[in-house]
Amino acid sequence: MFDRDTEGVRIELRSLTKHYPGQPAPAVDDVTLDIPAGELVVLVGPSGCGKTTTMKMINRLVEPSSGEIRIGGQDVLGLNPDQLRRHIGYAIQQVGLFPHQTVAQNIGLVPKLLGWSADRINARVEELLSLVSLEPSLFRDRYPRQLSGGQQQRVGVARALAADPPVMLMDEPFGATDPITREHLQNEFARLQKQLRKTIIFVTHDFEEAIKLGDRIAILRERSHIAQYDTPAAILAAPADDYVAGFIGQDGTLKRLALLSVADVTPALPPDTRLPQVSADASLREALDLMLSHGTDKCSSPTGVLTYASLCEAVGAPAEAVVSGDR
Ligand SMILES: Nc1ncnc2c1ncn2[C@@H]1O[C@H](COP(=O)(O)OP(=O)(O)O)[C@@H](O)[C@H]1O
Ligand SMILES: [Mg+2]
Repeated sequence: MFDRDTEGVRIELRSLTKHYPGQPAPAVDDVTLDIPAGELVVLVGPSGCGKTTTMKMINRLVEPSSGEIRIGGQDVLGLNPDQLRRHIGYAIQQVGLFPHQTVAQNIGLVPKLLGWSADRINARVEELLSLVSLEPSLFRDRYPRQLSGGQQQRVGVARALAADPPVMLMDEPFGATDPITREHLQNEFARLQKQLRKTIIFVTHDFEEAIKLGDRIAILRERSHIAQYDTPAAILAAPADDYVAGFIGQDGTLKRLALLSVADVTPALPPDTRLPQVSADASLREALDLMLSHGTDKCSSPTGVLTYASLCEAVGAPAEAVVSGDR
């Protein structure tokens, strides 16, 4: 289905609408969105704005009232829904692991449906558990109730990846974890996606999570109307309207600093070992914190010296704004 390639394929939504029976207004109204192959697009918006409904139409857990969905050029509404779902990874907040199956059985579910051999499934389960940082020998034979919430969510992500689908749908997959576990899962997942380059639609109500993970973000109003669809940097630099600005809040400049790394800025001078040291892949936000804690306007990385002025310039902010106004 789609393509033999397990790297991402393009997803196109065209005038997609869902009107639940008996409801006065559509839950999703005339949504048109292009998701480029291999990108992670985040749908972010308040509770009830239609994120889950939009997502579930793509794997046809909800039938659209009208509109079109194409995945890798194929018309999804013309496909058998059960077959379709075996080629789309799906991870949700409630995880939905089967309680009477082991971790290995849960992860192997879709590969089994696809007729993989037992050996191939075992090998895949081992690989995936390692990928999500769960030691296979410790976890493969446990039952879901013997795992913490964060571990269950990792198994949920592993299961969604099991058959190496080109497309993944993730509906608040880290939502049920505490903030520290969530940050850890986000970091791991961001690292994973760099390798996998699948096409992922990721739903969240958390704007911080959206800018951290998204190649692009669609900010949604009610009925899934798109307020702005762009890269995190572009949205932070130029919010389309007050609604979008409300998501960004007061610290837009700091958020933009967090998106850029030290290596993104042309060094002012060669490396200087007398200055506070920062790694080249640290964010400009971290570099700023280092400068502030040392009471200096310079720090150095292996690529060279970063000055406060060049840091401000990188995000197009006047030099006073970064430290004083926004902080
Ligand atoms: N099965 C359903 N039947 C009727 N209304 C529904 C159903 N599922 C969701 N809705 C309604 O559709 C709207 C969008 O819901 P949902 O897609 O779950 O939003 P979100 O995921 O953004 O919180 C809400 O008003 C919700 O009450
Ligand atoms: Mg939802």
